[in-house]
Amino acid sequence: MMVTKILQCLFGSIVLLLVSTSFSYAADEGDFVGDKKCRGCHKPMIVDIAKNLHSQAGHWNAEYKGCESCHGPGGTHAKSESAADILNPATMDSEAASGQCLSCHEDSNRHWVGSSHEAMDVSCVSCHSVHNNDNDKMLVESTEAETCYGCHAEQRVFTLKRSSHPISDIARFDNSGEMNCTSCHNPHGSQSESLISANTVNDKCYECHQEMKAPVLWEHSAVKESCLNCHNPHGSNHENMLTAKEPRLCQQCHEQGRHQTIAGEENSFFVTNRSCSNCHAQIHGSNHPGGVKLKR
Ligand code: HEC
Ligand code: HEC
Ligand code: HEC
Ligand code: HEC
Ligand code: HEC
Ligand code: HEC
Ligand code: HEC
Ligand code: HEC
Ligand code: HEC
Ligand code: HEC
Repeated sequence: MMVTKILQCLFGSIVLLLVSTSFSYAADEGDFVGDKKCRGCHKPMIVDIAKNLHSQAGHWNAEYKGCESCHGPGGTHAKSESAADILNPATMDSEAASGQCLSCHEDSNRHWVGSSHEAMDVSCVSCHSVHNNDNDKMLVESTEAETCYGCHAEQRVFTLKRSSHPISDIARFDNSGEMNCTSCHNPHGSQSESLISANTVNDKCYECHQEMKAPVLWEHSAVKESCLNCHNPHGSNHENMLTAKEPRLCQQCHEQGRHQTIAGEENSFFVTNRSCSNCHAQIHGSNHPGGVKLKR
């Protein structure tokens, strides 16, 4: 009991110390002048960044130079007051802008270089606004999905269709357990296609749909190959996010079979109700000894 109390006290004062000493970086090299200099002319920025994780970055990172860790040495600018004498990631070219961030964030961005975002001149500050404290990842919009929709309007359209994943349109980081774009994508780059944060698309789907991964006696090879053969991960107007309605969905691959099926014969078994799934209910694979045709 006592020991925890003491520890808590100790911890408390360490935290206090951390907070109270943030922003004490002093100039000691080159044209760097330290935060105190910036204070006089940019008071709102100082107030605002004091609430930001970066105000404590000095305690995690030896490279920390306060405002100047992202804006570069400010001695000349502090005298000239000219925008031309200070770096501003918002107006720099994308590679240089990201470079300001990567000097400290290289570890968490191992796949950044060469990623489709980096290659298309998207920079860290396309998505992050470090002077913005609206959300704890310092995103440019108040929710993650909104941040992405800024450039990916098409995906918004899909997520609004009849069937879609429960993608959150509320602030993301409230532990609501809802999904988001980064449930499947790593915007900082990944080793697989489409910035998927898993080795393959199916591995990604299995993370949440484990039951589909279990080995089955009778596989449907279209499923093992890719879930995307039949599903649109962002949403669709067909139920279960199917890319097409049955029987057309199946007929893309199964043109001929023991039973010829003609789409359009409205009263046929093959078309009404759940169509092919009426009989082939175990479309993802079957464990029944007699499930070879995926019917049970
Ligand atoms: C003596 C006052 C003064 C001091 C000290 C000062 N600034 Fe500025 N700063 C200004 C003014 C004025 C502007 C607007 C310049 C303009 O728009 O042409 C500005 C603009 C900026 C900009 C925006 C540049 C852009 O591209 O629009 C940044 C970033 C900046 N300052 C950072 C800093 C940092 C970091 C420090 C401390 C090292 C600092 N300033 C110290 C007066 C000052
Ligand atoms: C972690 C990096 C980082 C730190 C630390 C930082 N800034 Fe910035 N600053 C940026 C970025 C990035 C922008 C471009 C706009 C944006 O993304 O918010 C910016 C923009 C600015 C601007 C231009 C604002 C405008 O509206 O155009 C000023 C002025 C500025 N910062 C001053 C400061 C001052 C003063 C400090 C220290 C208290 C500071 N910055 C600390 C990254 C940083
Ligand atoms: C001087 C080193 C340094 C620079 C430069 C820097 N950061 Fe950071 N940043 C940190 C540290 C340290 C933290 C807090 C520790 C952590 O959670 O990683 C942090 C935290 C963050 C976070 C929040 C992480 C979280 O878990 O909530 C984001 C987002 C971020 N930085 C983006 C940027 C961007 C964008 C830039 C460039 C404009 C930048 N940083 C520049 C050191 C830096
Ligand atoms: C396309 C949008 C986008 C771009 C570009 C982007 N980020 Fe992020 N970043 C996010 C989102 C969304 C999150 C929050 C979700 C998460 O944690 O993965 C995030 C989280 C972070 C975090 C905290 C979590 C972590 O991974 O450590 C840091 C730090 C960070 N970004 C730094 C950067 C840096 C540095 C760059 C540039 C090299 C960058 N980001 C480029 C969207 C982006
Ligand atoms: C500043 C604009 C911008 C923002 C914001 C943005 N992206 Fe992108 N994104 C692009 C561009 C440009 C491309 C490459 C061209 C394309 O495929 O449209 C791209 C491509 C992608 C791709 C396809 C990658 C591939 O290799 O095929 C994915 C996935 C993606 N973005 C996810 C996201 C997510 C998730 C977010 C939000 C965290 C986001 N993007 C935010 C501009 C942006
Ligand atoms: C359930 C997982 C999942 C979620 C959640 C998700 N995506 Fe995707 N996304 C994928 C897969 C899988 C692909 C690859 C599609 C393909 O190759 O046909 C993809 C592809 C993309 C592409 C490339 C263009 C395309 O359609 O092929 C973009 C851009 C994209 N996603 C953006 C987003 C955005 C923005 C969000 C959040 C609103 C989001 N994604 C949420 C799984 C997901
Ligand atoms: C982060 C977890 C997660 C990932 C990853 C994920 N899903 Fe889901 N999926 C869900 C949740 C949650 C639901 C909604 C369940 C509900 O409504 O009962 C869902 C529902 C579905 C549905 C049924 C939709 C409906 O209308 O009822 C399909 C189909 C689906 N997911 C396919 C996929 C595919 C394909 C992938 C891989 C590209 C994937 N999921 C990746 C969590 C995930
Ligand atoms: C050959 C087409 C096809 C492929 C490939 C496919 N599915 Fe499905 N999926 C369907 C059909 C059809 C339904 C609707 C079944 C019904 O109506 O009973 C469905 C329904 C679902 C559902 C919602 C109903 C349920 O059973 O929970 C989820 C989740 C799902 N699929 C996930 C996946 C995942 C994950 C993959 C990849 C491993 C995948 N699907 C691959 C055709 C397919
Ligand atoms: C992307 C192509 C593709 C799609 C879409 C597809 N299948 Fe298949 N299906 C295959 C392949 C490949 C096989 C295995 C090869 C074979 O045995 O003919 C198979 C096997 C089957 C079998 C078992 C056949 C046997 O002889 O054992 C049935 C039943 C079946 N599919 C039904 C369906 C139904 C119902 C749908 C629609 C919900 C569907 N398939 C969608 C490609 C597909
Ligand atoms: C009324 C029930 C029923 C419906 C509806 C149905 N099937 Fe079948 N299907 C069967 C039966 C029974 C078999 C097995 C025939 C056998 O073993 O002799 C079969 C076999 C198959 C096979 C295995 C290959 C073959 O010719 O033996 C495929 C592929 C197939 N069906 C696809 C489909 C597709 C695609 C649809 C939707 C257009 C569909 N089925 C709708 C009952 C049905």
